Amino acid sequence: MSNIEKLHEIALQLVSPHKGILAADQSPRTMNKQLEALGLPPEAELRRKYRQLMFTTPGIEEFVTGVILHDGTIRNHTDDQVQFSDLLVAKGIIPIIKVDTGTVPHHGFEGEVVTQGLDGLQDRLQEYYDMGARGAKFRTVFNISDTTPTEQNTLFDCMTLARYSALCHEVGIVPIVEPEIIFSGPHSLERAEEVTTQVLKKLFEIMSWYKVDLRGVILKSSMVLAGSEHPDQTSPKGVAEASIRTFQKTVPDTVPGIVFLSGGQTPQRATENLDALAEQEEQMGGLPWELAFSFSRGIEQPVQQAWMGKDENIPAAQEALLKRLRLNSMADQGTYDPSMEA
Ligand code: G3H
Repeated sequence: MSNIEKLHEIALQLVSPHKGILAADQSPRTMNKQLEALGLPPEAELRRKYRQLMFTTPGIEEFVTGVILHDGTIRNHTDDQVQFSDLLVAKGIIPIIKVDTGTVPHHGFEGEVVTQGLDGLQDRLQEYYDMGARGAKFRTVFNISDTTPTEQNTLFDCMTLARYSALCHEVGIVPIVEPEIIFSGPHSLERAEEVTTQVLKKLFEIMSWYKVDLRGVILKSSMVLAGSEHPDQTSPKGVAEASIRTFQKTVPDTVPGIVFLSGGQTPQRATENLDALAEQEEQMGGLPWELAFSFSRGIEQPVQQAWMGKDENIPAAQEALLKRLRLNSMADQGTYDPSMEA
């Protein structure tokens, strides 16, 4: 099998039907904030224990194709010194590495940020490949206002995503390209749809321009919905219709899959929306891309609340993880019902 065929195969594997991706790639800073919110100290050992709890959950491989890891986590290990990436590979789960290094203000562009992470990326990717990573994620951020995102900001971030994708392909890693459209804010559904359309159109224009083979790329997208502070919150059906309409206008058929971030929605709402997307897809007789989940907070919030940093709560936390994964797998098939939350 040629290298490019291998990439296509990994991309398809990442979006296998009825499964999704667990985004466990919070930076140490974000993970520390989550620990503090539970009343726990922001310690490296607690972060390691928390990841161990999730990755050793019996049966996660039934629902998860890949797990996104932060640099510190891919280098970390279980109590028995098994590297987390080896543990995942042994379960048939693809280790995915987050390779962007976060955002900084875009000087001269009020309210906008650019994502860093291209410097030295080729060598870093090779090292991650050697550690077992076959996917890499890079997140850019677009804030919606009446005047943002600007054309300049969009162009810069899309070029960054295209360059990172090309570097991933060079070393045999599938890029999971994440142009996140931020949910928080007072914007309307129409404005979210307009912005998402504009960003995705530019992204795929630039990706083609840079000759990125889209059959080896996964899009990680926000769902299209009104901002968190808008008075009319979008219904699941509304989210499904707007999201699919947007993708039909912008995402080439050659992209094998679109996975969703939860973006600050409650776990249940993210699952309800995923379910509506699957139902809409079925009504339409199918779509060119596989749709799947790639939630972090939308999966992990109940896990953290069940755990509370205590060893005796590990079984309950693992059960909470399996429950969320199972419900999202059902939503992926359009067979979820909110009554299943009980
Ligand atoms: O980059 C964002 C994460 O991979 C997804 O996080 O589901 O909490 O939005 P989220």
